[in-house]
Amino acid sequence: MIGVGIIGSGQIVLANHIPGFALCPDTKVVALCDSNPATLERAKQRTGIGAGYADWHDVIKRDDVDAVLIATPNYLHAPIALAAIAAGKHVMCEKPIAMNLPEGLEMYRAAEKAHVRHMTAFTYRFVPAMRYMQHLVQSGAVGRLYHFRAQRFQDWGTRNLGWRQVKKLAGTGELGDMLSHRIDYGHLLVGTVKRLVADLQRFVDNRGGQPSDLDDWAAILAEYERDVTGVLESTKLATGRGEGHYGQDLAEVNGSEGTIVFTTQKPLELRIGKPGGKDLETVPVPREFWVIPGSPRDLAAGDPLVAFRYDQDFEFIDAIQNHRPCRPSFKDGAQAQAVMDAAVQSAAQRRWMDVPKVE
Ligand SMILES: NC(=O)c1ccc[n+]([C@@H]2O[C@H](COP(=O)([O-])OP(=O)(O)OC[C@H]3O[C@@H](n4cnc5c(N)ncnc54)[C@H](O)[C@@H]3O)[C@@H](O)[C@H]2O)c1
Repeated sequence: MIGVGIIGSGQIVLANHIPGFALCPDTKVVALCDSNPATLERAKQRTGIGAGYADWHDVIKRDDVDAVLIATPNYLHAPIALAAIAAGKHVMCEKPIAMNLPEGLEMYRAAEKAHVRHMTAFTYRFVPAMRYMQHLVQSGAVGRLYHFRAQRFQDWGTRNLGWRQVKKLAGTGELGDMLSHRIDYGHLLVGTVKRLVADLQRFVDNRGGQPSDLDDWAAILAEYERDVTGVLESTKLATGRGEGHYGQDLAEVNGSEGTIVFTTQKPLELRIGKPGGKDLETVPVPREFWVIPGSPRDLAAGDPLVAFRYDQDFEFIDAIQNHRPCRPSFKDGAQAQAVMDAAVQSAAQRRWMDVPKVE
């Protein structure tokens, strides 16, 4: 039996991780933690888990906690992860894993040294269409790769974003919140970013009566390995486009033999173009890509826009049970952080930056 302790019991835990861990064989969430008493109580009520703590050290201390999920505001990811690793726990950490690259590297190296499993919750890697797209690209279906493109356009208006609008709690705004997922997907699809130039802008200085000191908009022009170009853009201010599952969410790759386009709103299909074609054709994702191998998730159960998210918890637990690395790991989290750090520096210094490769 794998005992899981959850630290931070807010929105993403209830939406993704509680149902995700419930699917995992021989796994039990044995403790919850949240510093906000009302949030902790709500999570205990919703899940029926009796053990709830205000202080995360108490979760890590428990002998029946083999694995820890960290889903707090970003500034707590590194200290909690390092303490959990030091106590010999396996760790899954929400994205972005850290406030900066040195923190991310420290987490990755500490986890490797302690021989614990480590995973970054880059949830969108588990979208069936994105897994199929990765398979097609890696099997050579689009030939020589030219371009990667990512767009995440939502309308969050001027509402209060809590810790997400405070630099010392979140690190970055839209860059880490949304674009980090697509930075990771680009790495998976076409290779790591070698150099980039980026810009970050804040248009809303006060959200819901509280100051915001973070970016609402982020854009990166990237040079990947193998001379692939990338254009990535993400905003909270695409008025009228909606939030969450709504809004533009596109990942596209162009190569000498084809184009593949994915949108999150269509998790079970891709649009594919071939040389000489006049337009893209819709291609259904084969059922073998609907879940990750071994996942007990019922293909017919749940909303396809939501249910794929549960597979990430299965990936974490399956890696622990089978003594194999998690995909994506803290290494992937740190590599995305390297891009984010370079983007912040590029925007500040108004120039191209090299991106270090995490080894
Ligand atoms: N993978 C994804 O798709 C995805 C989606 C949403 C959020 N996230 C990430 O998950 C994390 C949490 O986001 P959320 O949307 O659930 O935010 P949230 O604000 O709903 O939840 C965070 C919780 O952490 C608690 N917390 C704060 N300080 C704490 C402390 N010292 N000890 C224990 N708990 C503490 C807060 O009270 C809050 O309930 C963030 O890192 C975010 O970037 C990832």
